Amino acid sequence: MPGFPEGWGGWHTPVLPCLVLGCGAGWWSSKAHVFVLLSLIIYRWPQTPANLLPQNQSVSECPSKSDFFRSVANKILFILDLDIKTSGTGCVKIQKIECDNCKIETEKGTSVLQSIKSHKIDIRTNGGKVIGLGTLYGNTDICATEKGSVNIEKLQGTTINISTEDGLLKTKYLYAESASLSSESGDIMLGSVHGNTSLQTKGGSITVDSSDGSLKASTYHGTIDVYVSQLRKVDLKSQKGSITVKVPESLKAYLELSGRKVDVSSEIQLKETQSVSKDDHVALSGHMNQRDEKDKWIKADTQNGKVCLKSQSWIQSVKLRSS
Ligand SMILES: *[C@@H]1O[C@H](CO)[C@@H](O)[C@H](O)[C@H]1NC(C)=O
Ligand SMILES: *[C@@H]1O[C@H](CO)[C@@H](O)[C@H](O)[C@H]1NC(C)=O
Repeated sequence: MPGFPEGWGGWHTPVLPCLVLGCGAGWWSSKAHVFVLLSLIIYRWPQTPANLLPQNQSVSECPSKSDFFRSVANKILFILDLDIKTSGTGCVKIQKIECDNCKIETEKGTSVLQSIKSHKIDIRTNGGKVIGLGTLYGNTDICATEKGSVNIEKLQGTTINISTEDGLLKTKYLYAESASLSSESGDIMLGSVHGNTSLQTKGGSITVDSSDGSLKASTYHGTIDVYVSQLRKVDLKSQKGSITVKVPESLKAYLELSGRKVDVSSEIQLKETQSVSKDDHVALSGHMNQRDEKDKWIKADTQNGKVCLKSQSWIQSVKLRSS
């Protein structure tokens, strides 16, 4: 069978009618039409840990129908292609599913996804909320137009693209080789970000509690507030808003900061600083805790706002995050 990852074993070949999806995954539709397409459903008993198996049931036993309905709720469903489309306020709720392609499209309805693993997760909404609980694992593309918002606990994939128009875009943990997140007027609020990340808004503000990779953030009206825990390249740009960069006191970096005003808090010692003031604009560059490293840098540039560089310990950033 094509497309099955190695080492999955323990299959019970197609025994599930669509109805059973309602146990592992469900949907409801009060004033809405729902269209679901499943190309193939295979129910998989998890092999490990063994204690996930129901008592007195071995992997090779085929459960009776009622047992099956009762026990499927705690198992993982494997589906090749899942394609759900709702209209009006029709909502979608999916949990504990593994699939090759997972496609969901709603109008105003909420999509709730919990613990999904897929090669490709594709979610579209025109005004609905997208809520992710647990980990969403896979290359992800989420597009929320109008007031549609995105709030995801943990996202992990090679490439991740998310866009909103007016709605908030929020993620607590983001792990991606390449992530591209954008919003027109919604805020982007990220917790802990790993990998190469690019963030863009027009009016919304951008907040990153902790970044340890390469980060590029740009906004027109919004403010930017970022804690950089470990550094590659950090490039922050705003036209009208202010930029706050927080770093650990021991960070080794080359810095270029420019804006209407540039404030460097006193705990941070910059060496070989150069400062140029021209027409209400200040540009300051300098080295922090090193002299010649130039590949690890932070650039923060705002036309009309102010740039602040502050020190913050990792512990403080964790405390702030959990408070
Ligand atoms: C994300 O966007 C980039 C650039 O548009 C594209 O190459 C990539 O395939 C997209 N990734 C996903 C998972 O849709
Ligand atoms: C970031 O991108 C570079 C090249 O574009 C890649 O070599 C690197 O592995 C990426 N970083 C992470 C953490 O995936």
